[in-house]
Amino acid sequence: MSKPNRPDDKAEATGLKKGLTSYGDNEFSLFLRKAFIKGAGYSDAALTRPVIGIANTGSAYNPCHGNMPQLLEAVKRGIMLAGGLPLDFPTISIHESFAYPTSMYLRNLMSMDTEEMIRAQPMDAIVLIGGCDKTVPAQLMGAASANIPTIQLVTGSMLTGSHRSERVGACTDCRRYWGKFRAEEIDSKEVADVNNQLVASVGTCSVMGTASTMACLTEALGMSLPGAATPPAVTSDRMRIAELTGAQAVQMAHDRLTIDRILTPDAFENAMRVLLAIGGSTNGIVHLAAIAGRVGLNIDLQSLDRMGRDTPVLLDLKPSGQHYMEDFHKAGGMATLLRELKPLLRLDAMTVTGRTLGEEIELAGPGFAQSVVRSADDPIYPQGGIAVLQGNLAPGGAIIKQSSADASLMEHEGRAVVFENAADLAQRIDADDLDVKADDILVLKNIGPKGAPGMPEAGYIPIPRKLAVQGVKDIVRISDGRMSGTAFGTIVLHVTPESAIGGPLAYVENGDRIRLSVSKREIALLVSEAELAQRRAAAPMVAPTAERGYQKLFLDTVTQADQGVDFDFLRATQTRGTIPR
Ligand code: FES
Repeated sequence: MSKPNRPDDKAEATGLKKGLTSYGDNEFSLFLRKAFIKGAGYSDAALTRPVIGIANTGSAYNPCHGNMPQLLEAVKRGIMLAGGLPLDFPTISIHESFAYPTSMYLRNLMSMDTEEMIRAQPMDAIVLIGGCDKTVPAQLMGAASANIPTIQLVTGSMLTGSHRSERVGACTDCRRYWGKFRAEEIDSKEVADVNNQLVASVGTCSVMGTASTMACLTEALGMSLPGAATPPAVTSDRMRIAELTGAQAVQMAHDRLTIDRILTPDAFENAMRVLLAIGGSTNGIVHLAAIAGRVGLNIDLQSLDRMGRDTPVLLDLKPSGQHYMEDFHKAGGMATLLRELKPLLRLDAMTVTGRTLGEEIELAGPGFAQSVVRSADDPIYPQGGIAVLQGNLAPGGAIIKQSSADASLMEHEGRAVVFENAADLAQRIDADDLDVKADDILVLKNIGPKGAPGMPEAGYIPIPRKLAVQGVKDIVRISDGRMSGTAFGTIVLHVTPESAIGGPLAYVENGDRIRLSVSKREIALLVSEAELAQRRAAAPMVAPTAERGYQKLFLDTVTQADQGVDFDFLRATQTRGTIPR
C-alpha cells in the first residue's frame, strides 16, 4: 500500500491537502479525506488535480436559477477540459418573491454561508453561480472575505413574453400592468392573462433590475469573463460562457489570481461608472458598498454623485429606456457599453482573465451598428441614473433614480402624508377617506435596515387608489427603504439614518412641508430645528431588538445603507481607503 502524501504547510497546501480537518494528525486527516471521497468513485489521478469549488445555488424556490443543472454541467466540463477537478456544493439560494420578510434580510446570511464553505472545504479556486438579486452580491461579499481565486458566473436573464402583441418582461411590466389594474384600466381577466407572459423562461428579470445591474457591475469589476453579463439563461452563449468560466477558474488557481488583486479601488470606480451609465438599480450602490467594505474600502456617495454629473445614461433598457436584456446582448453586451465609456474608465484594473479591463475592451474589437447602447453625445439621460440627495431629512444621504423619475416632480414642494410602517401603509393607502392630493408627498417610515427589518423593497409606495383612478401616474415618495431596480417613479430611497434608530424621518408628521430639489441635490424637511427637538424629546426612539437567533444577530449588528447594510463584524477589520480615490 502506498503511503499517503505528506500534507504541505497550510499556507502552501493545494487541492485536497488544503485546510485539513483537525484530528491532531495531518497525514491521517488527508488519508481519511481521500478515503471518503473515493467512496464517490474518484481515482487517485483525479484527486491530484487542482480542485475547483462551484457554489451551486439551484433551488426549486428560485426559478431565476432554473438553468442551474445545465450551467453546472458546462462549468464542470470547462474545469475538466482545463485539467481541474470540479466539486460543487450547495449554499443558500434566495429568490426575491420567495423570501420572507425580504431577500435583503438573508443576503448577509448567504454571504456568511458562502465565505465559510469556501474557507472550510479544500479548493484552489471557486466558481460562484448566482443570479437573482441578492445572490451575486452575497457571493461576492463572501468570496471577498475568503480571498481565494474567484470567478462569478451569473445565470442570465429570462426571455421576454408577449401579451396581446405587446412585448412584456419582469418586472417593470409587472408593476405597469398592476398599476393599470389598480387604476381600473384593465380587468381581472387581463391581469391574469399577463401574469402568464411576464416570465417567459427561467433566468433573471429581463430589464435593468438589480440582477441585471449586478451582472453588469460584476463584469465591470473584472469578476466575470468578458461578455458574461448579458447572454440570456437559456441560450448556447450562456452555456459557452459557463464552460469558459470553468476553464478560467483552473487558470486562476494556477496563477493564484486571488480576488483581492481584482477588487481594487479602480475596479469599484469602474463599477460605479457603469452603474450610472446603465441606469442601474439603486440597490447596486448598497451592494457595491457592502462588497467594498469586505476589502476595507468605503464608497463616497458624494463622489458618486459628482461622477454622475459627467456620466450619462447610455443604455436604453427598461425602466429608464425601452429595451430588454436580450436586446443588450444582441447589441454586443458590455463590450459595446465599455467601449463607449472608455474615456471615463480606469483601464488598468485587473480582471479574472489576468488581463486589464483596457486590454479586454481592445480585444473585443471595434463594435457594430446597434441601437441599444447610445453614444455619449446622444444619451438616454444626460446625467447618471442615480443622484445623491442631502438635507436635514437625510443627514447621512438619500438617493433617487432620476433617470426613471417624472421630470415635472424633480423640483417639488409638498405636504407630507405619513405612513408609520408597512402595515399602516397596507391598511390605509387605498382608503377612500385618505387625505391625499396629487401634489402631496408620501412618506413611509420604518422600512430601513433595522426597521422592517431588512430594508425591504417597499419604497415603491403604490399610488393611492383614489389618485390612481383619477389618472395620477407618479407622486413624490420618500422612505428609508429600497425599491426594486425594475420600478420607476419620483422616489427618494435609503434615507439615512433610518427612522427606526431615530433619524429625522421618524419625526415627520402629517401636514409638514417637504422640499425635493434634484438639481440642488436637496431633500429638506421644512420644520424648525426647535420643533424637531421637541418632537424628539416627546417620543425618543428605541432601536428594535430581538431575543434570539438570526434576527438578533441582524438587529444587533446591521449597518446603515451607506455601509451596504452589511453586518458590522463582517466588514474588513482595516480600512484601506475611499472610492473613488
Ligand atoms: Fe430573480 Fe428578478 S426575481 S432576478
